[in-house]
Amino acid sequence: MAGPVLIFDSGMGGLSVARALREHYPQAAFCYACDNAWLPYGVREDSTLTARIVRVCRAVVSTCQPSVLVVACNTASTLALEQLRAELTIPVVGTVPAIKPAAAVSQSRHIGLLATTATVRRPYTQQLIDNFAQDCRITRVAADALVIEAEALIGGAKPNAKRLAAALAPLWQAVHADVPLDTVVLGCTHFPLLKPWLEASAPVPLNWVDSGDAIARRVGQVTNTLVSNHHDGRCFTTAPTASLQAGLAAYGFFAPHCLSLDDVFSGDLPLEN
Ligand code: DGL
Repeated sequence: MAGPVLIFDSGMGGLSVARALREHYPQAAFCYACDNAWLPYGVREDSTLTARIVRVCRAVVSTCQPSVLVVACNTASTLALEQLRAELTIPVVGTVPAIKPAAAVSQSRHIGLLATTATVRRPYTQQLIDNFAQDCRITRVAADALVIEAEALIGGAKPNAKRLAAALAPLWQAVHADVPLDTVVLGCTHFPLLKPWLEASAPVPLNWVDSGDAIARRVGQVTNTLVSNHHDGRCFTTAPTASLQAGLAAYGFFAPHCLSLDDVFSGDLPLEN
């Protein structure tokens, strides 16, 4: 039987990608996995984070036997996509900031990039800007606090107005710049979960661009096994938290199982003759 589509993120942000995938492929089977024991990824050091992402993805791929892995995390994708593709035998679809579609819609040529500390600084992100938005001014806003707000939202809490305002202040300043910002890239998968609050707090209407639809289209290109099976809704976390259960259920996922990282063969073991 064809394996499910496995969606991976550091935490609950991948649910914004799951929403886009379920809209595009309502019959398909999806599993969800997150490394919430290591959340937030956006403030971690690159080499330990790369090793951790590969370790967790290998473990969950071995558990779920998916047909495709969707890395629904900009912070992980801009760092570890190449290594994941080298380590795994299934197709790996990444999530990177939607700079190209944002450059296609911005009239003023001033774009905001709202992402984690890691993503706004990554060479991968700079490459996207050089390739697709060379004529645009880019205001980079590292907003790790919004990751925590989005996690709390899935856990059943309302976002905190003060923390939201503090995180978004640099964007609203750019809206009033000589060349006004008119488009915001949601370069972290947690942020589309907060979109109603982001829109409500913006001083003027803006274009909000995320990567959900592009990822869904890409998944359709790399696999022809988007069919229903009994694996749909399985969920794995590295730190199972009861408060996330209702939030996960709203996106079609069951109560999470604890993902064991020890079950997995994690490298080339020396063999005795
Ligand atoms: N959801 C992840 C992203 O798209 C990041 C969250 C984190 O910092 O762990 O970048």
